[in-house]
Amino acid sequence: MVAPVVSILNMKGGVGKTTASAHVMRVLYHQMRKKVLLIDLDAQFNLTQSVQTQSQYDQVVDDGHTVMSCFEPLPSDDFFQVKQSDQPPPLASEISTRLRKFGDGLEVRLDLVPGSFELVKYSMIDHAGQLKNASKYFKRFISQARAEYDLVVLDCNPSSSFVTKCALENSTDVLSPVKLDKFSVLGVGLVDQLFTHLGLSPTHMILVNGVQRNGPISPVEIELRAHKKFGPKVLVNRLVQSKILSADPSYTGFATDKGGPYSNVLRQEIGKIAREISERVWGA
Ligand SMILES: Nc1ncnc2c1ncn2[C@@H]1O[C@H](COP(=O)(O)OP(=O)(O)O)[C@@H](O)[C@H]1O
Ligand SMILES: [Mg+2]
Repeated sequence: MVAPVVSILNMKGGVGKTTASAHVMRVLYHQMRKKVLLIDLDAQFNLTQSVQTQSQYDQVVDDGHTVMSCFEPLPSDDFFQVKQSDQPPPLASEISTRLRKFGDGLEVRLDLVPGSFELVKYSMIDHAGQLKNASKYFKRFISQARAEYDLVVLDCNPSSSFVTKCALENSTDVLSPVKLDKFSVLGVGLVDQLFTHLGLSPTHMILVNGVQRNGPISPVEIELRAHKKFGPKVLVNRLVQSKILSADPSYTGFATDKGGPYSNVLRQEIGKIAREISERVWGA
């Protein structure tokens, strides 16, 4: 079976896209015993920064093993040109960093294609033909990755950029985290509008993020769940607001692995989200 590709996207920033990409997928690969590939498609590359140290990242850049290798052959020294090649893109397994593995073999693992600020170059180039080459190269990269992995996850940037378009064109599913405020919910509507403009109809899931563990259901959540179009897309299980998940500048790695009070509870809660996502992307 060809692996599903899930874009994590909301047109609003700071809603938990990177948090979901990192922590939900960290639990999902292990619980579901899958081979999962994360690709950091945000030029701010917070996903990469949260799990990789600076010296590990420097090595990745030296090796040419960042997300730039998904769009064109490296090294590409010209900021305003997309390098061309007849060669196929590298395999994801050749350029990715192993974040976690489980068991003796490599069948159950979590890999990352680290991000890069250099991605902004595709917002600077206005030559359609050049961008077409980059998008064809990316399409090929993803199609190879779908043969190698069980699931491919794209942590997207909130802008409607060339890179976001590439992500959506290659996605079977989209997961939109929302915080329960007006703008974050509006951002989900914009994701949906973008599908229409691009003529795409991926499966769309919405993850409520940042709620209090035992708090009451807010009016915004009630309204969202009752919404005719978006209600059915909202996952039953929600991600709680947790100190464990809030970015800690002094720690590199998966926060849920750190231990401490409530970390088991949190892992179990994330496990339920992971199961629900798995049912939607692979079927029950
Ligand atoms: N459920 C949560 N509990 C605690 N902090 C969170 C939670 N979700 C997100 N955050 C924090 O909010 C900030 C923005 O989250 P992030 O996942 O980076 O958003 P995005 O990728 O959508 O821009 C980060 O500092 C992150 O640690
Ligand atoms: Mg992010």
